[in-house]
Amino acid sequence: MGYLVTRLLFVLMCCAMMMKGSVGQGTIATFQESAYSSQFQVVWQPNNVWISNQGQVLELVVTQQSGTALQSLNSYLFGSFRVDLKLVPNDSAGVLTSFYLSSNGDRHDEVDFEFLGNSTGQPYVLQTNIFAAGVGGREQRINLWFDPRDDFHTYSVIWNPTAITLYIDNVLIRVFQNHEAQGQAYPNAQGMNVYSSVFDASSWATQGGLVPIDFSQAPFVSSYTNYGMDSCIFDATNPTACSYPQAGTWWNAQEYQSIPANRIDQLQWVQADYMIYNYCTDNVRYPTPPFECTAPLY
Ligand SMILES: *[C@@H]1O[C@H](CO)[C@@H](O)[C@H](O)[C@H]1NC(C)=O
Ligand SMILES: *[C@@H]1O[C@H](CO)[C@@H](O)[C@H](O)[C@H]1NC(C)=O
Repeated sequence: MGYLVTRLLFVLMCCAMMMKGSVGQGTIATFQESAYSSQFQVVWQPNNVWISNQGQVLELVVTQQSGTALQSLNSYLFGSFRVDLKLVPNDSAGVLTSFYLSSNGDRHDEVDFEFLGNSTGQPYVLQTNIFAAGVGGREQRINLWFDPRDDFHTYSVIWNPTAITLYIDNVLIRVFQNHEAQGQAYPNAQGMNVYSSVFDASSWATQGGLVPIDFSQAPFVSSYTNYGMDSCIFDATNPTACSYPQAGTWWNAQEYQSIPANRIDQLQWVQADYMIYNYCTDNVRYPTPPFECTAPLY
């Protein structure tokens, strides 16, 4: 059903586009491999990127001297972005491990997974955030239903013109839908790069900055593998090329635009049992909740 609707939309869009004759199709990147170097560059401290398991796993390392960061060579406008992550074992207090999308400039868009480390035996917290046209402040924090130090888990973002959805192991944890018609900015005009980074965030990350990083436990190592990007490569000279549903763009399927009942169940489970902070209910910061907090899901 969702697929048919998408196909139908595609046919309509395609023909309208052909008649206008100006809007081309974007370039679709399909990436499902461990050879990260064809897709990413190290933008901060190459010595702190270690490669293990015959190149299958990237270890991003925090030492007393430095953290490190990777940036995708391409930027993307819409698609699916995922990675399998296993976080710093034992004592990770003060260490932040991230996987995120971001554009540049002061009206930038951004979608974040940020893992806040903790002392040995104490739980990690996952903070997510979304920026649109330079405006963020949409932090949500959840406890995880597993220890992310023990095994790899899959963290993913699906982004299309209607919604941004975030998943852990295919469980929906967050939705940000497009409310542009109501005057709210939505990320849909600028390409975002994919980043992975680790760094010392002990001034705020663990128990609000009360637990300092203990460099006698360094190096702190988070492991990244199975990057997957099915997405439309952004071309600034043809910025609308990715904006229309195209053949093969599964991330535009109806189930990733309006949220199906089983996904709403997942979201409610996470919000009821695991959410420890939600900007939507922080009425000190937001006496009037931001628009998306009260708008019903559609
Ligand atoms: C860290 O944790 C692992 C298990 O995840 C354990 O095997 C190892 O001994 C621990 N190292 C230290 C220094 O506590
Ligand atoms: C760290 O552990 C403490 C104690 O269990 C907990 O209150 C806190 O939420 C955990 N996470 C962070 C990021 O402080």
